[in-house]
Amino acid sequence: MCGIIAVTGRPDAARVLIQGLERLEYRGYDSAGLSVTDGEGGIVRVRVAGKVNELKAAWNSREAGSCGIAHTRWATHGPATEANAHPHTAGRVHVVHNGIIENYRSLREATTKAGATFHSQTDTEVIAWLYAAALEESNDVVDAFQRTVRKLEGAYSLAVMVDGEDDLLLGARRGAPLLAGFDDTAGYLASDPLALAGEAQSLIFLEDGEIAAVRPGRVDITDLTGRAVTRPVQPAQLSPVLAEKGSYRHFMEKEIHEQPEVVARTLGAYVDQVENTIRARDGLDFSKASRLLIVGCGTAAYAGEVAEYWFERIARLPTEVDIASEFRYRDPAFLEGDVALFISQSGETADTLEAMRLCKAAGLITVALVNTAHSTMAREADIVAPTLAGPEIGVASTKAFSCQLAALACLAVRAGIERGHLDTASVTDHVAQLMAIPGTMSEALRADGQIDQLARDLSRSEIVLYLGRDQYFPMALEGALKLKEISYIHAEGYAAGELKHGPIALVEEGVSVIVLAPSDSLFAKTRSSIEQVRARGAHVLALTDEAGAEALEGLVQASILLPAARGAANLMSAAVAVQLIAYHVAVHKGTDVDQPRNLAKSVTVE
Ligand code: F6R
Repeated sequence: MCGIIAVTGRPDAARVLIQGLERLEYRGYDSAGLSVTDGEGGIVRVRVAGKVNELKAAWNSREAGSCGIAHTRWATHGPATEANAHPHTAGRVHVVHNGIIENYRSLREATTKAGATFHSQTDTEVIAWLYAAALEESNDVVDAFQRTVRKLEGAYSLAVMVDGEDDLLLGARRGAPLLAGFDDTAGYLASDPLALAGEAQSLIFLEDGEIAAVRPGRVDITDLTGRAVTRPVQPAQLSPVLAEKGSYRHFMEKEIHEQPEVVARTLGAYVDQVENTIRARDGLDFSKASRLLIVGCGTAAYAGEVAEYWFERIARLPTEVDIASEFRYRDPAFLEGDVALFISQSGETADTLEAMRLCKAAGLITVALVNTAHSTMAREADIVAPTLAGPEIGVASTKAFSCQLAALACLAVRAGIERGHLDTASVTDHVAQLMAIPGTMSEALRADGQIDQLARDLSRSEIVLYLGRDQYFPMALEGALKLKEISYIHAEGYAAGELKHGPIALVEEGVSVIVLAPSDSLFAKTRSSIEQVRARGAHVLALTDEAGAEALEGLVQASILLPAARGAANLMSAAVAVQLIAYHVAVHKGTDVDQPRNLAKSVTVE
């Protein structure tokens, strides 16, 4: 959710903070703020109820000192006002926070009784008051911080600075990501390594329950009682270019067009092209699995729903897919031999992480299919299955989704091999289908111009229905999600066969219906669904191939031509099409494509 960056030992601290916030803004963009030493023994704080560019304008390139903290917010407690924007202060303390302090009401009551006057409605401000009080009792700033953090319940990553301690930053982590960075002369804290790309040389990822004291050139990690902890130091590898749009108008557009490349990279991590097979993953043996449980949220859950078709069809492995926020509270019943697979771009989504912990505690083998190698899920799962999409900055997931699909398609084939359902010729055929995915996606991208034109009319729709059968049903759900989240048009996805059981009541003259209609074995059935909505006046757009377009000529208003491919490759060209539809509709509507209202990337709170 919120983004945090802090820096010490940099004469250009304010510039580094604002640059970091620009890269982190996708995590939350309701409001932003920073506190920086003023070079004259004080701290200057600037906050805005708006985006980072408004903060940048308010800061106005002024000169400042070398130590500071900054924050971009996704509101949880209290609306997006300047008073609720971070940093929050009390006495000498300035705090930025990502997460939710669950016991903040009782803490606020106690600190108010002790004389604190709150200036915001946030849960964060109580941390500043608690720490300010602790500093009055002790001169040891690090010890006082540890005592403060021990009182907090809930999820947090914190970066803190103290007036009069010009070089020192303090950080704490529990349930929300935080890393420390350093080089010879500077020190950093951030919620995402992207914020430090091109700045820090070395990184240390904190674990839950740890505290970092960061000074120029030095990071000391302890647990909450002050006991020293040693964490591996890793070289910073991300290039700052990854946080730039290049020649594209939006990150989402860039990320849609990057897909053939990143999907090829992801396939490379699974496919053994010399042996024409899918590599085994250490510790993961599908041959003994009785059932596969797949859990995720939003788009990641839809990737799982697509994969259910693949695991059952290719590997005859019974598969169940759950939304993490439901799974974790519904007291699921497990079977001997269950394998649990968790899908997450960020690897930090609170519900998915807790669902994974629940399965681990129940003794299941846990597999994390994650895009962020250093994420909490990657660290806690028994087995990591990577996607190599690179940082995804557009809030609406595109390239991460297609890389999830690519990895899942490989795992389904691997499961088929291990369970003895595929002979050598079938494996070779599956590998050929998988290796066709990047080329098919490149071909699908050629529909960009046509989709842009069709999107103009679509952007005037009040409601859009997406229909699909088989693996195209979850893709219809994903298409509808993509459209609603960035264009704010009401969109719903349905299994085409479900239409008659209710949703067709929505269809009347002029309602837009997008039908995923590849010319496969179910084409005739999909065609009759199209007839049914056309008979009621729907305006139908078909995503199909040449043969399908020919068969639908005269029946639909327009066909978007996608390459005729098999299996996952065919599905993934449809993914490109639904993403482009959502993107161009949003552009025509003039919405904020990369930072749609009310959303944030990486949902680290419930
Ligand atoms: C939609 C979208 C979200 C995420 C969901 C899970 O475009 O991006 O639905 O897929 O919040 O996030 P991760 O994959 O980070 O767990």
